[in-house]
Amino acid sequence: MRTLVVLAHPGLAASRVNAALAEAARPVDGVTLHDLYATYPDLRIDVEREQRLLLEHDRIVLQFPFYWYSAPPLLKKWLDEVFLYGFAYGSNGTSLRGKALLVATTAGAAEEMYRPGGFNRFTVAELLKPFDATANISGMTYEEPFVIHGTHAVDDAALAAYQEDYRALLASGVVRERDLATV
Ligand SMILES: Cc1cc2nc3c(=O)[nH]c(=O)nc-3n(C[C@H](O)[C@H](O)[C@H](O)COP(=O)(O)O)c2cc1C
Repeated sequence: MRTLVVLAHPGLAASRVNAALAEAARPVDGVTLHDLYATYPDLRIDVEREQRLLLEHDRIVLQFPFYWYSAPPLLKKWLDEVFLYGFAYGSNGTSLRGKALLVATTAGAAEEMYRPGGFNRFTVAELLKPFDATANISGMTYEEPFVIHGTHAVDDAALAAYQEDYRALLASGVVRERDLATV
């Protein structure tokens, strides 16, 4: 399986968790690590290049720190400009059909803050529903998201365990479809 990890972190130099995940992903067989902010420091996206990259891979991973219950802005811009009518959706827009979409995100707040009735009212999986709907309209299989909660409290041992989980998930090639009952 060829996996494209689209990494969107506006301040990777100061990142601890996403930098560690990227480091874990990079050497995995079949993985292409694509750092969006490094590739497009001027935020001008080469749409043809991005579409070509998508076509060359079977599994697309969107990796980012959770910012305001969503993704950093360059990833939204990337979706807006790359997932075009006739490419990603529409009657002739079948280029992504059959591929898998995995969101890998890291949230500063602890897991118990992400629940109904809790501080953030919703689970991270619920807040990620626009990605689920995007996969759906594009004919992609939406995978169970990979989420790290409470990044501020993650110690080195826990971070190493998350790196191993992420590496194994990318290496396995096993697409874990989202369980509707848990969302
Ligand atoms: C602009 C901004 C918005 C953020 N919004 C959220 C948020 O909505 N929920 C949350 O749990 N953490 C939020 N955070 C915390 C980040 O998710 C957290 O610092 C990041 O996941 C840590 O990963 P890193 O070490 O790779 O930077 C925000 C941080 C910034 C800078």
